[in-house]
Amino acid sequence: MVEKTFCMLKPDAVANGHIGEIINRFERVGLAVERLEMSIVSPEQAAANYAEHQGKPFYDGLISYITSGPVVKMIITGTDAVRICRKLMGATDPLEATPGTIRGDFGLTMDANVIHGSDSLQSAAREIAIFFQE
Ligand code: RTP
Ligand code: MG
Repeated sequence: MVEKTFCMLKPDAVANGHIGEIINRFERVGLAVERLEMSIVSPEQAAANYAEHQGKPFYDGLISYITSGPVVKMIITGTDAVRICRKLMGATDPLEATPGTIRGDFGLTMDANVIHGSDSLQSAAREIAIFFQE
């Protein structure tokens, strides 16, 4: 099924100059960038995006990290876009992520793990609304 998913290149990906290399990985498997914007995530957007993690020990660090510098927000479209993006991203912890995945190749720590991607079609619709309100 042709799907839309939300991906965000985190502050470390932007600061370390990996925007082009990461977008290339989506394009080369045939996914398309439908919308793209660089911005700073507001505290409200961060809280809405990570609502499921509120109260967890890593929550405060996660919110301060994602709001700490410019990110690149994207809507990615294509067949099975949600699952393919998650597969290209690799495991959450860069130490566990397989080489060849985005986090395996560019990630350092659990906070600076390069990229966020929606984990379901439902999350994708929710996150697109948070980050790309018309
Ligand atoms: P994301 O939402 O960023 O795409 O990552 P994910 O689905 O692979 O992982 P998730 O469980 O949703 O966690 C969201 C982000 O929180 C940070 N995290 N830290 N210290 C910890 O135990 C821990 N667990 C998660 C990571 O930055 C992760 O991407
Ligand atoms: Mg997640």
